[in-house]
Amino acid sequence: MGGSMRVILLGGPGAGKGTQAALVCKHFDIPQISTGDMLRSAIAERTEIGMRARQLVDSGELVPDEMIIGMVKQRIESADCKSGFLLDGFPRTVPQAQALRREQIKIDLVIEIAVDDQEVLRRMTGRRVHLPSGRTYHVEFNPPQQPGVDDVTGEPLVQRADDDIETVCERLKVYHKKTAPLIDYYTSWAAKNDTVAPGYARVNGIGSVRFVSDSIINVLKRR
Ligand code: AP5
Repeated sequence: MGGSMRVILLGGPGAGKGTQAALVCKHFDIPQISTGDMLRSAIAERTEIGMRARQLVDSGELVPDEMIIGMVKQRIESADCKSGFLLDGFPRTVPQAQALRREQIKIDLVIEIAVDDQEVLRRMTGRRVHLPSGRTYHVEFNPPQQPGVDDVTGEPLVQRADDDIETVCERLKVYHKKTAPLIDYYTSWAAKNDTVAPGYARVNGIGSVRFVSDSIINVLKRR
C-alpha cells in the first residue's frame, strides 16, 4: 500500500475491532492504537484522564472528544507510527474525524466491519479480556487455551465492567447515534475527487475470526 499503512477500523461495539486489530497489526507489523484499551489502562492506573473517564466508560457513554483527540494525536507522533498504524475505536464521532483531517493526519483506508446488533448481543456476554494487554477472547467463539487464563501471560481473564446487557444496549444506542454517521462521512469523502481522501472498504464481520481477518488482510494487500 504505497509504503505506508494508516488504517481506521470502524464498527460498532463487539464488531470484532479489537480481535481483528491484533491479527492485522501482527501480520503487517504496525502498532495498534486502541482508544478503549488506552482508557481502560488509564482507569486501572488512576491517572487524571482515567479518573475523569471511568464513570463514562463504565456506563457506555463516550468520553469528551477533546480528551481523546489529544491522546491519539500524541500517540501518533511516536516514532513507531512513522510507517503506519491501525486506529481501533477512533474516530468515534464526526468531530473526532474532523480533528484528524484538521491535524492533517493522513489515513489511507477506512475498513468497516459490518455486524448486526443481534450478533453483538450474542458475542458480548461471552467476552473475556486480559486487561493489561487488551487481548480478547470469547468463551465459545474464540476460547483461550485454558478457561479463564490469558494464553500469553497465564494471568486471569475478566469480564469488562461495560459488558452487562443493559450497558451493551446503551453502547449500541450511542453507536447508532454518534458513530454510524462516520460511515456516510467517509464514504462520501471517498467518492469525491480528493487526493487526500482515505479509501473505504466494507467487510462482512459475520463468520469465523479467521474468515474476517482473511477478508481484511486481502483488502489491505490489494491496495
Ligand atoms: P472500546 O473498547 O473501543 O469498545 P467498543 O467499540 O464498544 O468495542 P468493543 O471493544 O466492545 O468491541 P470490539 O469491536 O473490539 O470487539 P471484540 O474484538 O472485543 O470502547 C470502550 C469505551 O471507551 C466506550 O464505550 C467509550 O466510553 C470509550 N471510548 C473509546 N474510544 C473512544 C473514543 N474514540 N471517543 C470517545 N469515547 C471512547 O469482539 C467482541 C467479542 O466477540 C469477543 O468476545 C470476541 O472474542 C468475539 N468475536 C470477535 N470476532 C468474532 C467472530 N468473527 N465470531 C464470533 N465471535 C467473535
